[in-house]
Amino acid sequence: MSIQQEKIKELVARREKARLGGGEKRIAAQHEKGKLTARERLAILLDPDSLEEFDMFVQHRCTNFGMDASHPDGDGVVTGRGTIDGRTVFVFAQDFTVSGGSLSKTMSEKICKVMDMAVQAGAPVIGLNDSGGARIQEGIDALAGYGEIFERNILASGVVPQISGIFGPCAGGAVYSPALTDFTLMVKNTSYMFLTGPAVVKSVTGEEVSQEDLGGALVHASKSGVAQFAAENEEEGLATIKRLLSFLPQNNLETAPARPTSDPVGRTDDALNEIIPDNPNKAYDMYAVVRSIVDDGDFFEVHKDFAKNIIVGFAHMGGRSVGVVANQPRILAGVLDIAASRKAARFVRFCDAFNIPLVTLVDVPGFLCGTQQEYGAIISNGAKLLYAYGEATVPKVTVTLRKSYGGAHIVMSCKQLRGDINYAWPTANIAVMGADGAVGILYGKELKAETDPEKQAQLREEKKKEYDDLFCNPYQAAQKGYIEDVIEPRNTRFRVIRALEALQNKRQDIPAKKHDNLPL
Ligand code: HXC
Repeated sequence: MSIQQEKIKELVARREKARLGGGEKRIAAQHEKGKLTARERLAILLDPDSLEEFDMFVQHRCTNFGMDASHPDGDGVVTGRGTIDGRTVFVFAQDFTVSGGSLSKTMSEKICKVMDMAVQAGAPVIGLNDSGGARIQEGIDALAGYGEIFERNILASGVVPQISGIFGPCAGGAVYSPALTDFTLMVKNTSYMFLTGPAVVKSVTGEEVSQEDLGGALVHASKSGVAQFAAENEEEGLATIKRLLSFLPQNNLETAPARPTSDPVGRTDDALNEIIPDNPNKAYDMYAVVRSIVDDGDFFEVHKDFAKNIIVGFAHMGGRSVGVVANQPRILAGVLDIAASRKAARFVRFCDAFNIPLVTLVDVPGFLCGTQQEYGAIISNGAKLLYAYGEATVPKVTVTLRKSYGGAHIVMSCKQLRGDINYAWPTANIAVMGADGAVGILYGKELKAETDPEKQAQLREEKKKEYDDLFCNPYQAAQKGYIEDVIEPRNTRFRVIRALEALQNKRQDIPAKKHDNLPL
């Protein structure tokens, strides 16, 4: 064997050893927990053989607590560049088999390197987290490593899409990297995120809570909203990340991706002409409207289990990627509350940052009232959504289906918030408030003065009709040019697609500033 051949053999052997991470025993232990290894995850996530791994031979530099006795190659994270559906992504996957995936200074350097490469190359970053947090033996160096990652998360925000998958523990300050990224996906039963674990919670507050109830996937997907997705298992989680990417451009300078569809642009749907119940207090399912108008009925929902009174997600219309925001009359009558406002605001801002046009379907009775909402700052949180729509410069097409009252009317992508093309169905009520509330305020004294209950009811109905006839329709808004047209519901798909086509090359600016001051 020549010297060169010997060296190549050594390289192959070194690679094989590095690929084992913390070794066979720890890989088996990982499998026993029902978890995949970092490399197995990347093999599922990326196109076959597309991973170009970087820094495979990097080793930690710690000498404390006997750490110099062992120097596993790669040091607890697999990083590199690969493709998903042929498009470049940069990835890092923490390797729990090496010191529990805990973050060392060298590990953070590896992660920062791929994040820097991603920003320079204009490609998404996907981080798969499975880590015991800061590597305790490295002390402040590990903390510095986190700080450097967070700073890159912040600088990359709005430049390239950042997606976090949580596939194991993610605790302490480590949770802030996923929190800074655009989307967080968790896996049910095997992943958790919290600032302090159950033992610390018990000692500090006396509260007894399991890991899953404190920071499991369901908790964050449905209660806190920290996670946009909760997958049944790792395979489903990785498939969800891939699907999410298919709707996104590579970076903030690209337009949203298009894909061919056999669904005709001119497809109409007669069912939409019958979907609005006669009784304004009766609900209908907004999902039916969304699925009816998007290409192939294919809607990829984001934050499905959180604030279900508003629906957000991605779809294609006429082959182009769009972000859909829609009130859901079936849940809390589609009212806007703190959670719904936060959820939709974040989604609108993401779409705007990445040039994804917004399609908004409105049926909103107003903002939720009461002390719980006021004490929780519905004012500031509602303002987030208002702000998000008002600053967004992507094409904005809005269709009002039924109710659009008061402040909630303004918030939901109205004309004055630079809504580009606003349509309404003939069933739309665009008004300060519904007839019940308005009559109570305008004729409260007269109604109180009428002591005969029958006559009182009659007066109420008369005044309601008067109000309804004047305000509870789309024509007041149409007469004043606040909406572009009143459209037949069955035609919604092609009217929206045509509007999007008209806006395809839209250019709009915001005044130069250092940055805005979103009401946080
Ligand atoms: C060094 C760690 C480690 C850590 C785990 N390991 N966490 N090594 N630093 N933070 C090592 C273990 O010693 C063990 O090594 C191996 O990883 C696997 O861990 P196990 O405990 O055997 O696994 P498991 O039973 O599955 O428990 C996993 C775990 C637990 C729940 C994550 O290890 C744990 O509680 N770790 C500490 C978590 C923690 O408090 N981290 C610091 C958070 S504060 P061997 O060699 O035996 O296989 C923080 C601050 C960040 O992160 C601040 C950012 C701003």
